[in-house]
Amino acid sequence: MIDNLRTSDAVGTPPVDITAQGTKTETRKGNIMLEGKVALITGASRGLGRALALAYAGEGAKLVINARSEDSLKPVAEEAQGAGAEVLAVPADVASAADVEGLIQATVGRFGRIDVLVNNAGLLGPRVKIEEYPEDEWRRVIDANLTAPFLLAKAAIPHMPEGASIINIVSGVSVEGRAEWGAYSVSKFGVEGLSQILAAELKDRGIRANAVDPGGMRTEMRAAAYPEEDPQTKITPEENTAVFLYLASDDSKEVTGQRFKAQEYGRA
Ligand SMILES: NC(=O)c1ccc[n+]([C@@H]2O[C@H](COP(=O)([O-])OP(=O)(O)OC[C@H]3O[C@@H](n4cnc5c(N)ncnc54)[C@H](OP(=O)(O)O)[C@@H]3O)[C@@H](O)[C@H]2O)c1
Repeated sequence: MIDNLRTSDAVGTPPVDITAQGTKTETRKGNIMLEGKVALITGASRGLGRALALAYAGEGAKLVINARSEDSLKPVAEEAQGAGAEVLAVPADVASAADVEGLIQATVGRFGRIDVLVNNAGLLGPRVKIEEYPEDEWRRVIDANLTAPFLLAKAAIPHMPEGASIINIVSGVSVEGRAEWGAYSVSKFGVEGLSQILAAELKDRGIRANAVDPGGMRTEMRAAAYPEEDPQTKITPEENTAVFLYLASDDSKEVTGQRFKAQEYGRA
């Protein structure tokens, strides 16, 4: 994983505000699923997060995209802008409470509310047995994968209106412990629980929380986890956005506390 910004750098870096208007109707066809919704996607510089940013942009959402590095966000921001979206790119380390506070403040400052929060950013960490797992790596992975969605939900909820949606990303190893998946697997087990707790706590406010297992996709994380695998045997994240569009849209407004397998839901 690239780790080219320290927390203090990330906090101190101003958001990149890229605003475009007037091109939506020319670039989009059919129903516009997310027209006017404000969607915050973490880990949007590559892989699944990038694919979701572009899919949401194509459906009329106003976007806040995040990753640790400003440079990696710029091309995604420009592409989403090209699809007609208003885009705010905010470099921040989501494992840091101060960075998350800055990210939420920047989002609310620009767009006034948060309709969709996608807790997508994640780290794989070492693929070793527990007895060999370095403690500092353990804490780093738990912070990025589990504490971050907690921090983001906590900071975002006060700015979420009725009908808002929290989408947490889980994994095959968040329901089944397997050898040498260490903190990644344990963190994702935690995210399963966090999703259920959020769903129970927010039901009366009409805010939903669901978990999605995207399944194996052709991304950097997958290649690091399975170096021997031919990436061509896996679908691209761009083909795997359908359930994420559904959960962000009003079509799913009664759906909460559920767990979806993206690749069983259907392809984009
Ligand atoms: N790929 C798969 O087959 C698969 C399967 C099951 C579940 N998942 C889950 O799907 C999600 C996306 O995975 P992916 O394969 O797209 O991963 P990826 O290609 O490694 O991308 C991860 C993204 O997260 C960002 N990120 C990492 N740590 C961060 C931090 N502390 N703060 C902010 N951003 C951070 C990275 O950007 P920077 O490095 O620039 O910060 C990058 O944009 C993850 O939650 C992963 O666990 C993936």
